[in-house]
Amino acid sequence: MRAKLDNRLTAAAALIIPGKPVADIGTDHLLLPLYLVQNGIVPRVIASDKARQPYENALALAQEQGLDQWIELRLGEGLEVLNPGEAATIVIAGLGGRLIRDILAAGKAVLVGKPRLVLQPQKDAALLRRWLAQQGWRIMAETIAYEGGHYYQLLAAEPGRQRLTRAEAEFGPCLLRQAPPLLRGYLGEEKSRISALIVGLNAHAGPAAQRRLRQLHAQLRKIKEVLAGLPCRESDRD
Ligand SMILES: C[S@@+](CC[C@H](N)C(=O)[O-])C[C@H]1O[C@@H](n2cnc3c(N)ncnc32)[C@H](O)[C@@H]1O
Repeated sequence: MRAKLDNRLTAAAALIIPGKPVADIGTDHLLLPLYLVQNGIVPRVIASDKARQPYENALALAQEQGLDQWIELRLGEGLEVLNPGEAATIVIAGLGGRLIRDILAAGKAVLVGKPRLVLQPQKDAALLRRWLAQQGWRIMAETIAYEGGHYYQLLAAEPGRQRLTRAEAEFGPCLLRQAPPLLRGYLGEEKSRISALIVGLNAHAGPAAQRRLRQLHAQLRKIKEVLAGLPCRESDRD
């Protein structure tokens, strides 16, 4: 079986350092490690999962494919499965931004090896970016992938210094600078999501709801501002 990646995991694969060992934390179906090794992109992958069933399934799959020499499965929580310097790239994809932050915070001893982090938060990307900047990480690259009707943000970070504006934390410093074609769609989706939340909250008069409403309106204004500043494209014309 040759691993075929969807757009989201293809975008993650494009951000890793080729030719050097990768760790895939929370690997589940093992698709990314299989793809990286089968295509000769990296010589070795450490693939981990904290849950026994996905770990055992992935272990059986690596053996069945005759790739267990190059893909090593480890069972365990977050970065606890790694030693410093074992992986040049650590991938954590498909988890919430808050959980990714908690995994990184608990695994600081492993991060002294100064790996590249390839992260794909399902939500709370701003919280993750702020934490990275506070903890001495610099965002080197970002992409957006569109898959199954959803937009996904991906980022690569390396040790370094970075100060983020509010908009950069929300929408990504590289994404704002480079304005890739999918950014407009992603912001449009965010605009609809936040507008729907505002409509839902308008009925609630309590102080907590009012505070949240003010935050959401501020977010919406920021999105409109960013959208207005994006360069025009041929496809934007009617
Ligand atoms: C939604 S899947 C994502 C799979 C793959 N990374 C992807 O992006 O398609 C999440 C996997 O991460 C595992 N997981 C969740 N929290 C974890 C943690 N703290 N440490 C290791 N694995 C974890 C889950 O057991 C599950 O198999």
